[in-house]
Amino acid sequence: MIERLKELEEQSEADLSQIVDAGALEALRIKWLGRKGLIAEIMQGMKDASPEDRPKIGQGANKLKNTINEAIEAKKAEFDSQSALKPERTIDFSLPGRRPNKGHLHLITQVTNECVQIFSDLGYQVAEGPDIETEYYNFDSLNTPADHPARDSHDTFYVKPGYVLRTHTSPVQMRTMELHQPPVAVIVPGRVYRVDFDASHSPMFNQIEGLLVDQNITFGDLKGTVEHFIDAFFGKNVKSRFRPHFFPFTEPSAEVDISCSVCEGSGCRLCKQSGWIEIMGCGMVDPEVFKFANYDYDKYSGFAFGMGIDRMALLRHSVNTIHHLFENDLRFLEQF
Ligand code: PHE
Repeated sequence: MIERLKELEEQSEADLSQIVDAGALEALRIKWLGRKGLIAEIMQGMKDASPEDRPKIGQGANKLKNTINEAIEAKKAEFDSQSALKPERTIDFSLPGRRPNKGHLHLITQVTNECVQIFSDLGYQVAEGPDIETEYYNFDSLNTPADHPARDSHDTFYVKPGYVLRTHTSPVQMRTMELHQPPVAVIVPGRVYRVDFDASHSPMFNQIEGLLVDQNITFGDLKGTVEHFIDAFFGKNVKSRFRPHFFPFTEPSAEVDISCSVCEGSGCRLCKQSGWIEIMGCGMVDPEVFKFANYDYDKYSGFAFGMGIDRMALLRHSVNTIHHLFENDLRFLEQF
């Protein structure tokens, strides 16, 4: 038995030196200290030992048990502190990171901001109005009587009696004039709606309205302002022309064309072979409109214009279908 004890002492040292993790430590504990373990085996064997050997064996076995116990505790503490330091997975800090996708403003927002900036620099202030508008602001107050073709339900989305989705940003002219006395100079970006759908028309699109009212405002001021804008937005190489037109709320009225940016005037599909592309409607505010606004039309005059932002964004980048702007296909949007 004494020899067996010696043997076990040596073996325990060897066993302990081989422990590499918490799992192996538990296996070792069972092997040595478990109910059917090696220490238990010695204790059992004591009854066969000679009476004088018994105390030695008992002491030796106890000592061995304590040594193993202490060694296990020490190892356990060591593993615990190591696992607290060690991350779950090892990280390779030298790997290049994954870049988050950085978004940017939508093309329409970019172009809108740019237009607004050009007019802010001239002293215009931004005004806004609701998308769901009363017939009064959208039509009546803008001198568009009930029997005017623009009020035909083919062009206008009617929401409920008396209410429409605004067909242009012009109602904000009236809303502004009701709130402010001249001089007024506002620029009005916003969404507008018409019952219209083909390659170059979307039922929802964007306009920017401008309104300037003061004393002695002339058509020359309108022309100068619009030409300044075209130079600033499209560049000085682009030509422009004013074509007589009709709007119920301006008199005289005009449409403004610019030379086609795709064919530079020689004629292509985008400009329908004319070399010109229409970008806005404008004119001198009709005195009838001033009457609705309670403005003194003998004292004041003014001009207004409304332009299609989507069209201008497309022209700037020579894109031909308006629907790309609203389909949110990132392959398209990321290009701008
Ligand atoms: N509201 C007109 C349209 O949408 C454009 C316009 C605005 C014309 C201001 C004249 C003055 O067609």
